[in-house]
Amino acid sequence: MKYGHFDDQNREYVITQPDTPLPWINYLGSQSYFGIISNTAGGYSFYRDARLRRLTRYRYNNVPMDSGGRYVYLRDEESREFWSPSWQPTRHELKDYSCRHGMGYTVIGSTYSGIEAHTRYFVPLDENLEIWQLTITNRRTTKASISTFASIEFCLWNAQDDATNFQRNLSIGEVEVEDDVIYHKTEYRERRNHFAYFACSLPGAAFDTQREAFLGRYGGWDKPAAVEAGQLTNSIAHGWSPIGAHQVELELEPGETRQIVFVLGYHENPDDQKFLPAGSQTINKTLVEPVIRKYLDPVEADIAFARLREYWESLLGIFEVNTPDIHTNRMANIWNAYQCMATFNMSRSASSFESGIGRGLGFRDSNQDILGCVHMVPARVRERILDLAATQLPTGGAYHQYQPLTKRGNNDIGGGFNDDPLWLILGVSAYLKETGDWKILDEPTPLDSEAGSEVPLYEHLRRSLHYTLERLGPHALPLIGRADWNDCLNLNCFSSTPGESFQTTTNKEGKVAESVFIAGLFVNAGRELASIASRCGLDGEAASYLDAVAKMEQAVNEHGWDGEWFLRAYDDFGAKIGSKECEEGKIFIESNGFCVLAGIGLEDGKASKALAATQKYLATEHGIVVQQPAYSRYYLNLGEISSYPPGYKENAGVFCHLNPWAMIAETRLGHGDQAHDYYKRINPSAREEISDLHRCEPYVYAQMIAGKDAPSFGEAKNSWLTGTAAWNYYAIVQWILGVRTTFDGLEIAPVIPKSWPGFSATRKFRGVTYKISVARKGDGNQIALTVDGSPIEGNIVPTPTDGRKIVLVKGILT
Ligand code: GLC
Ligand code: GLC
Repeated sequence: MKYGHFDDQNREYVITQPDTPLPWINYLGSQSYFGIISNTAGGYSFYRDARLRRLTRYRYNNVPMDSGGRYVYLRDEESREFWSPSWQPTRHELKDYSCRHGMGYTVIGSTYSGIEAHTRYFVPLDENLEIWQLTITNRRTTKASISTFASIEFCLWNAQDDATNFQRNLSIGEVEVEDDVIYHKTEYRERRNHFAYFACSLPGAAFDTQREAFLGRYGGWDKPAAVEAGQLTNSIAHGWSPIGAHQVELELEPGETRQIVFVLGYHENPDDQKFLPAGSQTINKTLVEPVIRKYLDPVEADIAFARLREYWESLLGIFEVNTPDIHTNRMANIWNAYQCMATFNMSRSASSFESGIGRGLGFRDSNQDILGCVHMVPARVRERILDLAATQLPTGGAYHQYQPLTKRGNNDIGGGFNDDPLWLILGVSAYLKETGDWKILDEPTPLDSEAGSEVPLYEHLRRSLHYTLERLGPHALPLIGRADWNDCLNLNCFSSTPGESFQTTTNKEGKVAESVFIAGLFVNAGRELASIASRCGLDGEAASYLDAVAKMEQAVNEHGWDGEWFLRAYDDFGAKIGSKECEEGKIFIESNGFCVLAGIGLEDGKASKALAATQKYLATEHGIVVQQPAYSRYYLNLGEISSYPPGYKENAGVFCHLNPWAMIAETRLGHGDQAHDYYKRINPSAREEISDLHRCEPYVYAQMIAGKDAPSFGEAKNSWLTGTAAWNYYAIVQWILGVRTTFDGLEIAPVIPKSWPGFSATRKFRGVTYKISVARKGDGNQIALTVDGSPIEGNIVPTPTDGRKIVLVKGILT
């Protein structure tokens, strides 16, 4: 069953039934100010960091599900009935409910007792605020008196402290109200120079800032006492729980439409201009007021919205494709690209499944995210690369994550993941292929964020590769360290204490357990760095990397091959993991997908055997599972992977992130049908019809779909923030459609299904628009290209030297 439909024309998903299986969310904001918003207006907002600069409160894992958000209530003054046009929190039966999640905005509305109301929520570009445009129309034949209420609950901004330190926090709340603007200034008296505000465009009848006054004793958001009474009480919060609530009275003639604009925002004052008059404790509002006034004007709000639409239009216009498959088109053109921007912005920090409190930006995650968004925001990717590299340790090792506000690395969720540094090479190489900006390699970049320690970015890449070479194990394969890509394969942890973190505990020396996956990653990254080195004129260095790659391939061939597939690892006893000799966990996707993706075994038949085994043992109708058979009990020597019940997460769940590795691997063998078949199995749009089973949003990828060993086989979890976004985008665009960036230009090398007559695409690349069309004349993947009518040698379209800005590329597949 479906809960809505795609509106591809408008780049929206339209939800038409509010009680979706889970809150189906969207993100507001694109640079510094962000919000999460569900299809029933739940969620919260923050400035840069969801832990340290949270503006509004959110209670996790709450009941009823997803309560707390940006709530509007309408009250009919005649009948005294009140309801929420967004369904939550009052949950009335509404007419024509719809939630349109679009690119950076969400519109939620409905009609109730003849009153139509819609709220459009969005964050203007380059501003630290969000706009709610509420439009109300009287569809009755008689006049209507409607009281309108809008409310949010402020948070103390360190969301962790907010949820734990009540003995202090319930005594420090402070607000000011001036000209219908509610200012939340808790802690502003001391070391903060920032505050939040909530403003309303029409003269308010009243306001509330103390939660209890608004909700009433023991009251909830579903039935605020003050809304029920039809009158806010102008309460001023002293301590307890400051909120912002506005009341506006509207008299609507039949057919009449009115608009109210609410603005919720964040502002920082210069330290020496915090108060006005100086010496007082009153917020100096002179800098923020013009901004507030500007966006309370509906005309300005509309202009800001139009700019946001243009922004997305231009980002998504960089690559567009038309294939015979609607699910491919819609994901590649709209939602997958959009999700790539969300993962780039949020990493794995704030979603319905990530609290925003626990994690900063992951080193490995952020580098992979680059694959999916570098064509849209190359300048921001450049900055991200330099930020990430600046946290790298002198050893070449990496902190597992860094905090976006301070840009410093930390090991709060563990360190010494031996795959981490290698991802930096892949991130940088993707950036170079997109932009040709070789100068980035010379950028002086610190080590461990220490001023004075700067070395060129290229030196960081060198150290990344050496980090692996200096950590080889008994079979000359890379030592795994804390874990590799699979955070939960903890081979040096051996934890028997309940509650102990698998991610931070180590009680083995780490000199034995090895990872075949890291070997595959090394081969891939090593080849990339060799290509980079030779283009920098460092031929000797390039040769030494290729030599190291060859040795690694040899180690994989000798000690990483199990006869029918690639082994996964060796544990601390030197025993095999992911081998036919194992009782459980005989075969894993990570090593098989990545080794083939890296080109290992293409010549000697290992690659095709490995993929055949992957298909036979791991592929299911809902995607490819991590391993088989699932671990049925806890293994001290394997760690967190065996802590999950069979079929979930790393223990044989469909970890969607890994599926594109198998897709890319299939394309390397020329198997377009198999690659696209795998693509379809986890494509959220293709799963829309089974929304009751899938449960997560049908417009974005989820991290995991429960595997065949789980009772809920096919059910997705952890939507939005996952490496799946970037990797699937990369797999479909660059490997299946084969519109691929290389150091030397744009390559066209499709490996598409045999049944496709072809496809057409537009790609803007290094200042030139390539209009590509591919037609199939035979069953294979051989392509002959003509560029502006003339045949060319090979697959790489030459960059025009005569200033042409539009290039027509025609490909014939035989
Ligand atoms: C999560 C983590 C990622 C890790 C994966 C597998 O997605 O963010 O870093 O590779 O899980 O454990
Ligand atoms: C990743 C894994 C998860 C693990 C976590 C630890 O997100 O998917 O299973 O618990 O990392 O940080």
